[in-house]
Amino acid sequence: MSTNPIGVIDSGVGGLTILKRLTQAFPNEAFIYFGDTKNAPYGEKDIPELKVLTEKMIRFMEEKHVKALVIACNTITASGVLKSISTTIPHIIEIIEPTVQTALISSTSQHFVLLATDVTIKSGLYQRLLKEHVPQATIETYSLPELVRLAEKAEFTSPVAEKVIKQVALTLPEGSTVVLGCTHYPFFTPYFKKHLGKTIRMVDSSQAVTHYLKNILSTKASDNTAGSIEYYVSGNTTLFQDVIAFSLD
Ligand code: DGL
Repeated sequence: MSTNPIGVIDSGVGGLTILKRLTQAFPNEAFIYFGDTKNAPYGEKDIPELKVLTEKMIRFMEEKHVKALVIACNTITASGVLKSISTTIPHIIEIIEPTVQTALISSTSQHFVLLATDVTIKSGLYQRLLKEHVPQATIETYSLPELVRLAEKAEFTSPVAEKVIKQVALTLPEGSTVVLGCTHYPFFTPYFKKHLGKTIRMVDSSQAVTHYLKNILSTKASDNTAGSIEYYVSGNTTLFQDVIAFSLD
């Protein structure tokens, strides 16, 4: 058993969509969240910059002695920068592989739709992993940077978000599996549910990551420990508090 915290990092507020489910699944654990809101969005940055920013967050979490770190950012994982950052943190949990596993289990057809940032799409990681398991898979990709910007401004009921989602949804064939490959996108789940056809399955990372963490976390907090969350951001704290209020609803 260990009372050391579990860290969760993202470019900004997106990781809160993962944190929510983690805190429900691990009610006795202490969580530390860091959102690099000052530098979000990451989805349009170049790899050297992503490395510098990611390394800073990892050093911060090392100082907090986290026993595991959830990289709640597809863009960081897809960029490959983690391979060149050494760390003393015992477990680093990346979200793309567990998400792909969930997508494969959920899918009823071989048509996948990846919604993700430019960096994630261009890396080809999701596409490669899906094809490894389903060689005949067809994979459409769409980047929705508007959703990241709106989420960072705590604008979750925006007509712009609905329009962007509707435009994509209208083009998708029946039976597709839509992968929300950016942790900011699940904030807009009501719009996805409204516009995606009934036969379309939607997969987000939160369930996959939670399941994965359950399997690998070797030192857990005891059942009588009270869970907690500490939040840190590099940018505007008022907006961040608005998002927390919305995400914990
Ligand atoms: N939430 C992040 C992801 O899952 C990045 C969004 C961004 O900062 O562009 O990819």
